Amino acid sequence: MTTYRIAAIPGDGIGGEVISAGVEVLDALARRDGSFSFTFDSFDWGGEYYKRNGRMMPENGRDLIRDHDAILFGSAGHPEIPDHITLWGLRLAICQPFDQYANVRPTRILPGITSPLRHVSGPELDWVIVRENSEGEYAGVGGRVHQGSPLEAATDVSMFTRLGVARIIRFAFRLAQSRPRRHLTVVTKSNAQRHAMVMWDEVAAEVAGEFPDVTWDKMLVDAMTVRMVMKPDSLDTIVATNLHADILSDLAAALAGSLGIAPTANLNPERDFPSMFEPIHGSAFDITGKGVANPVGTFWSSVMMLEHLGEADAAARLMAAIERVTGDPRCHTPDLGGTARTADVTAAVIAAINGAND
Ligand code: IPM
Ligand code: MG
Repeated sequence: MTTYRIAAIPGDGIGGEVISAGVEVLDALARRDGSFSFTFDSFDWGGEYYKRNGRMMPENGRDLIRDHDAILFGSAGHPEIPDHITLWGLRLAICQPFDQYANVRPTRILPGITSPLRHVSGPELDWVIVRENSEGEYAGVGGRVHQGSPLEAATDVSMFTRLGVARIIRFAFRLAQSRPRRHLTVVTKSNAQRHAMVMWDEVAAEVAGEFPDVTWDKMLVDAMTVRMVMKPDSLDTIVATNLHADILSDLAAALAGSLGIAPTANLNPERDFPSMFEPIHGSAFDITGKGVANPVGTFWSSVMMLEHLGEADAAARLMAAIERVTGDPRCHTPDLGGTARTADVTAAVIAAINGAND
């Protein structure tokens, strides 16, 4: 029997509620399957840890999780702590040193979920956004001088390396190749940003030569928002910079019906370091502690984790269970217009896991 060691980092806000739901579901899945199990090590890092210790995670934090098979992450963000501190102190402090350069964000309209787009009910919207996750606008390059004086100046420099661009575009082409449509859209802003974005376009054209069976096109990010709304069925796999894909993936999640169901994988494809799986939704302090957080984003992220671990059957079983449950409006949490609670959705998914294929 294979035992996977998972580092669970609930983080802040509703992170605790959704991660414990995720752990329950993963354990149920392992029991149902019988050929693997999980050991979860939980780490209390985040905003409350910061208030006690002056940092978001211990200095040797990464050493404590480096040998785990995967990381299940809730959210980082605290109302009393500036967002750039929570982000750089925890999430980016894991993603960047662990070289999780491929951030993968699938978007689909799950059964029972209503898209705000008229005439779009499901199959027309089936995308995977590949977000560059290690450099670009999130490189952390820049500075501030003359603070407090009228001469104050500040810069945030986007930094793109040819290696970083080539590896994410190659990753995206491979992913596009594995999907039925075999189509990739490369997003830039190479009309206005005339250096790095032009390099993206050049690298995309070069890498495309390695994938003659994948069709591809280019979009400017502003026009891309229009295409996502007006012609969702013309898109399949999408690759964009760190910031552009951050914005596009929020739009994608909204068009698919709710941020509460959207998943993410932060992958280190070479497997030199553990990869990290997390719901997109964030800490949502307005509903924290009320027991109404939507755990589906965490469940779907767990599907991605199972795929990464090589447990394809269990991943498919969990995805089928999620879709059966979203298909039942009685299992919709308030973000989907329902009255179900986190525990109801979790219990329904576990029941579906145990009932499926019997
Ligand atoms: C996301 C989030 C984060 C990001 C925030 C919380 C800093 O919006 O994962 O999309 O911008 O990377
Ligand atoms: Mg975002």
